[in-house]
Amino acid sequence: MKKITNICCIGAGYVGGPTMAVIAHNCPEIKVTVVDVNAARINDWNGEDLDNLPIYEPGLKEIVAQVRGRNLFFSTDIDKGIKEAQMIFISVNTPTKTYGKGKGKAADLKYIELCARKIADVATEEKIIVEKSTIPVRTAQTIKTILENTGNQIKFQILSNPEFLAEGTAVNDLQHADRMLIGGDHSTADGREAIDSLAAIYEHWLPAERIIKTNLWSSELSKLTANAFLAQRVSSINAMSAICEKTGADVEEVSRAIGADSRIGSKFIKSSVGFGGSCFQKDILNLVYIASTLGLNEVADYWEQVLLINSYQRRRFAENIVTSLFNTVADKKIAFLGWAFKKDTNDTRETAAMYVADYLIDETANISAYDPKVTQSQMYSDLEHLATRSNEENARRLKAEADPYEACRDSHAIAILTEWDEFRTYDWQRIFDNMKKPAFVFDGRTIVDKDKLSAIGFKVYQIGKG
Ligand code: NAD
Ligand code: UGA
Repeated sequence: MKKITNICCIGAGYVGGPTMAVIAHNCPEIKVTVVDVNAARINDWNGEDLDNLPIYEPGLKEIVAQVRGRNLFFSTDIDKGIKEAQMIFISVNTPTKTYGKGKGKAADLKYIELCARKIADVATEEKIIVEKSTIPVRTAQTIKTILENTGNQIKFQILSNPEFLAEGTAVNDLQHADRMLIGGDHSTADGREAIDSLAAIYEHWLPAERIIKTNLWSSELSKLTANAFLAQRVSSINAMSAICEKTGADVEEVSRAIGADSRIGSKFIKSSVGFGGSCFQKDILNLVYIASTLGLNEVADYWEQVLLINSYQRRRFAENIVTSLFNTVADKKIAFLGWAFKKDTNDTRETAAMYVADYLIDETANISAYDPKVTQSQMYSDLEHLATRSNEENARRLKAEADPYEACRDSHAIAILTEWDEFRTYDWQRIFDNMKKPAFVFDGRTIVDKDKLSAIGFKVYQIGKG
């Protein structure tokens, strides 16, 4: 087995940064270099102020502080990183295509292809290539074909090693991964050796029995399957939340009751205003596209429903705000608590908050948003991405506040979009005193104490509670 002492990771994002920091932390004898075309991002990873790393993850800055400059390096010199490394991780983004064939569904593999071509161009010795990005099943074949046809006749081994970390808990998820999946070519000695070399890295801190070895295609498909199953659970409980609201059942009680069945389990059945994040929607769209291109239309329709329920849930939440506020929010101030797609992250990709904001701005509401980790410019860029109206109109209708009490002052209603812990401990009496009456709270995360807030005088709506 080849002992790996030099790794390069292409892509210094939410996956590349934390994953490589944890590898460097656990494997002091391996030099890990993370490279990226985005010079500003690399600059931020190298910045003096560890509170300003490009990605906020609990526990990350402590690890970076220990290993950066020791055996973890961030650089824009992609060629050098590739040349020196024995093993190259590809952790670039694979967003939904916004053009051409498969637009709006298929994964855009242009960045993956650029990486493969770059490696082929630069590499002068044999390398192990590790797909870390989430990609459609059989992408390894594309990478292999590019490497074999455009390279310097060097031998490459391609492995699939999808990442299962969730944002907000990335460091913990990496350090205590339930499983590490490695797909590779078991039919050749070189293939088996490459798989073992990668497994040996993870065995520095994970028990060997947690490392699952499969063929390439199973590994690639397992990643899409895992995300589809997780998102499906959220859509399933969200579908039930609508029934709960109409019948007097309580979705939290339903979750607790079903989650106690060990076959179902208690995770990922928390009803919400809808799942967000960079991957669930993108990966299910990709799965739907793959199924339909294989002629499996029933399978495609099945998975598409998970996304339809998610849009329905966001819309239902926003519609309820308008209906409750006497059928108009025109020029009313609505305070948003939370904008990130979940707590403990500054990531806003596909956040439910932006869709709810978009709906309310269409109804000419004024939004005053507070999120402990999201800036106003990020909120504007999220709305711009939806391309519903001019940037000027968005800027007129949405303002971010650095203080939650100011965000809520003089508002007609508060919408809770993210489950940040601090929202639970606010002085809700103070908030109530400074609001217009009747004062509404729309809790899209079921985090506030409904009885306590009702006793103060709030009119409280919680997802899944009649
Ligand atoms: P990201 O957008 O945060 O980071 C990707 C980085 O790759 C960017 O900094 C970009 O500049 C860089 N990049 C793109 N093309 C490049 C090139 N040709 N050369 C050098 N750098 C290049 O994305 P992410 O959230 O880290 O996701 C990366 C992949 O991991 C995606 O496929 C995603 O589906 C998957 N994934 C993400 C998560 C998550 O929680 N975000 C979890 C598991 C898997
Ligand atoms: C998800 C998966 O959990 C990871 O395993 C996977 O690696 C990652 O996608 C990826 O491929 O990008 P992430 O999107 O970071 O991770 O966060 P999750 O904790 O899965 O939450 C996703 C969304 O679902 C959030 O908006 C969250 O609030 C929502 N959610 C989650 C619920 O509404 N209810 C739940 O019970 C759980």
